[in-house]
Amino acid sequence: MKTRMTELFGIKYPIMLSGMNWLTTPKLVAAVSNAGGLGVLAGSQYGKDRIRDAIKQIRDLTDQPFGVNMTLGVGAREAVPIVIEEKVPVFNYALGRPPEIQKIIEAVHAYGGKIIGTVAMVRHALRSEQLGADLLIVTGYEAASHSGNVGALVLLPTIASALKIPVIGAGGYVDGKSLAAALALGAEGIAMGSRLAATQEAEVADSIKETWVKMTEEDTVIDPAFDGINCRVLRNKKADELMEKHLPVIDVMWAGLALKKELNLSYGEMIRTALNMKSMEAGVGGGKRKWADVMRFAIGGSLFSKATIGGDPVEGLLMAGQGAGRIKDIPTVKELLDRTMAEAEQVINEMKQKLEG
Ligand SMILES: Cc1cc2nc3c(=O)[nH]c(=O)nc-3n(C[C@H](O)[C@H](O)[C@H](O)COP(=O)(O)O)c2cc1C
Repeated sequence: MKTRMTELFGIKYPIMLSGMNWLTTPKLVAAVSNAGGLGVLAGSQYGKDRIRDAIKQIRDLTDQPFGVNMTLGVGAREAVPIVIEEKVPVFNYALGRPPEIQKIIEAVHAYGGKIIGTVAMVRHALRSEQLGADLLIVTGYEAASHSGNVGALVLLPTIASALKIPVIGAGGYVDGKSLAAALALGAEGIAMGSRLAATQEAEVADSIKETWVKMTEEDTVIDPAFDGINCRVLRNKKADELMEKHLPVIDVMWAGLALKKELNLSYGEMIRTALNMKSMEAGVGGGKRKWADVMRFAIGGSLFSKATIGGDPVEGLLMAGQGAGRIKDIPTVKELLDRTMAEAEQVINEMKQKLEG
């Protein structure tokens, strides 16, 4: 299958691994690239000290194209220049303000790299195209983690027909049926998140992979209470608690210090980061961000890692999409990508047959 996505990145399949903090380790990224897709590492979690080594590890494991995703908020100012210095083939930004995005696009294009922007609103898509992105990920309401208020059935064709650059869908894509649907809606491919995290190569506790396999499509909830931006997680006691109660100041302080330590930021860098986040739009939905939202980001960070790294989907917060309800097994990455392509082809052929009567 050839699409504008496969042509742009020089890959075999129009399938990308969504950048996911704590989940997209170099091993998983390389497995996706080696299987014919585009592996993408979520770089934010590595911070300025470990990002170079993570990129080197990917290069040791694959000679195929790959990307690095940076959420332009916590620690990004320090780590982004290193990602650019490393001349990664594909740079994927999420969130961020236009001047910051523009600088990154210019620097990446200067060395011949490609830019993917992540959006969940039409106006952000138009802005990203204007800034010079090469391809956009359109994140629907179904997605794990952050999204806007509009589902893929409406959002994807609206953005695809408003732009000249290619777009791919994210949120709920788990198999060939959903890949074929995305292509029908005007996309040039898909980004898979939760589905690729429930594979044998994903370096996440079995308890987490099993949670995705057991979940139904009804088991998630989306709310800004977890990290200050509308975020979809597995509904559990912790999620209910955070949606009900006000921010406990002491928890915020501890979480902020833990994040500072994890990313090895000085107090000055920490304050700059907080001010930067306060000045950004309130996530993908737009609007003004409150200080309480910035503080919630620190709380969310520690609870997300408790689930994804700590393997505790009960006391931690597990980001998960509605599509997790359609995940039924834990294949290898290659098995998953090959069968997704075979099924998409079958679906498209069956539709053709219906048309021919
Ligand atoms: C644990 C987890 C961490 C994530 N971290 C990031 C991130 O660092 N940057 C980003 O742009 N998106 C992040 N996402 C969102 C994914 O990139 C993607 O949009 C989402 O997983 C798509 O929905 P799906 O899981 O239904 O495929 C994360 C998702 C999960 C499940």
